[in-house]
Amino acid sequence: MNITKRPFGTLADGRAVTCWCMDNGVVQAEVLDYGVTIRSLVVDGVDVVLGYDTIEEYVANDGYLGATIGRVGNRIAGSCFELNGKNYHLYANDGKNHLHGGKEGFDAKIWNVEETENGIVCSYLSVDGEENYPGNLQVKVTVTLEGKAIQLKYWATTDADTILNLTNHTYFNLDGKGDILSHTIRLGADRYCAGDEGCLPTGELAPVQGTAMDFLTPHMIGERIDADEDCVKLSGGYDSNFIISSSPAAVVKGAQSGITMTVTTTEPGVQFYSGNFMKFRKGKNGAIYHRRYGFCLETQHFPDSIHHPEWPTCILKAGETYESTTKYAF
Ligand code: GLA
Repeated sequence: MNITKRPFGTLADGRAVTCWCMDNGVVQAEVLDYGVTIRSLVVDGVDVVLGYDTIEEYVANDGYLGATIGRVGNRIAGSCFELNGKNYHLYANDGKNHLHGGKEGFDAKIWNVEETENGIVCSYLSVDGEENYPGNLQVKVTVTLEGKAIQLKYWATTDADTILNLTNHTYFNLDGKGDILSHTIRLGADRYCAGDEGCLPTGELAPVQGTAMDFLTPHMIGERIDADEDCVKLSGGYDSNFIISSSPAAVVKGAQSGITMTVTTTEPGVQFYSGNFMKFRKGKNGAIYHRRYGFCLETQHFPDSIHHPEWPTCILKAGETYESTTKYAF
């Protein structure tokens, strides 16, 4: 395992950004301390993730490319929640709803990075009241290379009850270029969170059978992406939380490269997002990105679960430890 680092520019306020490079002889990964962002991941000579050349592009562009998302990934309806009888008002950055941690989520923080066995451990202290969330929250994300796989291990504790739903927002393209419509995907999910126009769960956990959401057997991403069904129509393609009913959560294959990625996780759900909101932009090494040029598999607790007490809870109590692991193997 070879770990090196290089400067990756500076933020507007002068803080330096560092790119950590890991090579275990099988896969090569680059991770920024800015957002614990996976900038590149080279498998069999193909860089299978989207990213940028400069820190300025990471700061200026939308889409959360490669980033760690927190405190709460996905949406919170109405940007507010009640916990222990107290109301909390969050920043509305997705219409009237709160998305991916708010105005300045974990994706835009500089994390403290140290070397560990097979990779790096990144830590961040999110102070009480940051983005209006309660509790001093100490978070760690350990990024390791495990043979032909990259593993993300999340850990957190808080000194006051809070809510937490950490994930990673890497856009994969297993062909290394072009759109992802001819990738084949299988999802170990027999239900999904039915959503409304705002991509918020209605509360219904709908069966996938007989719909464009049925990936229990492999299908091309593009096969039913524009079907005349609400599950894809309302979000302009795939952008829903699938309820994991069997392992692995996902298996995806690039049509041209033949590279296969298998996703396993301790989380109960995975947001399969087909990059529908991605607008034309310049990517790293002269690449061009466009709508549906990358897909995300954001392992997570169900969206807006603070408003659905019947679902697995996103509440982290004071003194409890949050732990979650997701592995992307090739
Ligand atoms: C998530 C959401 C999408 C979109 C992207 C960022 O995957 O579910 O609706 O907001 O993040 O563009």
